[in-house]
Amino acid sequence: MLYLLDTANLAQIKKAFAIYPLKGVTTNPTLVSKEQTDFMPLMKEIRQIIGIDQDLHIQVSSLENEEMVKEAQYLVDALDPNIYVKVPITKEGLIAIRELHKRGVKTTATAVFTGQQALLAARAGADFVAPYINRLNKMGGNGIALVREIVTLFEQYELTTKVLGASFGCSEQIQETALAKAHAITLSPALLEALLLHPATEQGVQKFKEDWEKIYGKRKIYEL
Ligand code: G3P
Repeated sequence: MLYLLDTANLAQIKKAFAIYPLKGVTTNPTLVSKEQTDFMPLMKEIRQIIGIDQDLHIQVSSLENEEMVKEAQYLVDALDPNIYVKVPITKEGLIAIRELHKRGVKTTATAVFTGQQALLAARAGADFVAPYINRLNKMGGNGIALVREIVTLFEQYELTTKVLGASFGCSEQIQETALAKAHAITLSPALLEALLLHPATEQGVQKFKEDWEKIYGKRKIYEL
């Protein structure tokens, strides 16, 4: 499973990419609006930080299909053809995904809450679908079961569309999404940090240090 970072914050992107084996960045209008800055320079800077080989998913702002396509084409022309254009899975979005697929523009169907939305997006030519796990759980649904269903549907019909798990509230949901065979997930910088934390790891590391220093002091291996 690939890890992507769900933020448009440059400092967080720089910090996380220096530490974690990330595959890319996803944004949406909510995340972008938090940055309160010019949109295209921000997208260009994100691309520059992560590099052309990484995945960059950028969401359209329009709700009408022709405008979605126009925005998508603008993004591809102004940035690069490697980007994934995120399109909400509405009727208008489905038309846009079909048109963008014809044009060879890569898409991610977003705000997916049912297996049938995912299957329709895949049939329309979406490269990824993004089921919202935590939001579905909060509505009384089962986000992990949704991921499992989508993975099963795509396998069953031999579709190449991939599952990008999104919207997480805790590390356990991420672990469950991985076990449900999602191809990728996108998570907040805070949750990414939480994935590495375990008190026993920290205690173990501290004990290793103390035991080493009892015998070798502050000396490093290359000083012995
Ligand atoms: O990528 C989709 C994601 O940003 C939605 O997450 O936490 O707002 O439900 P959340």
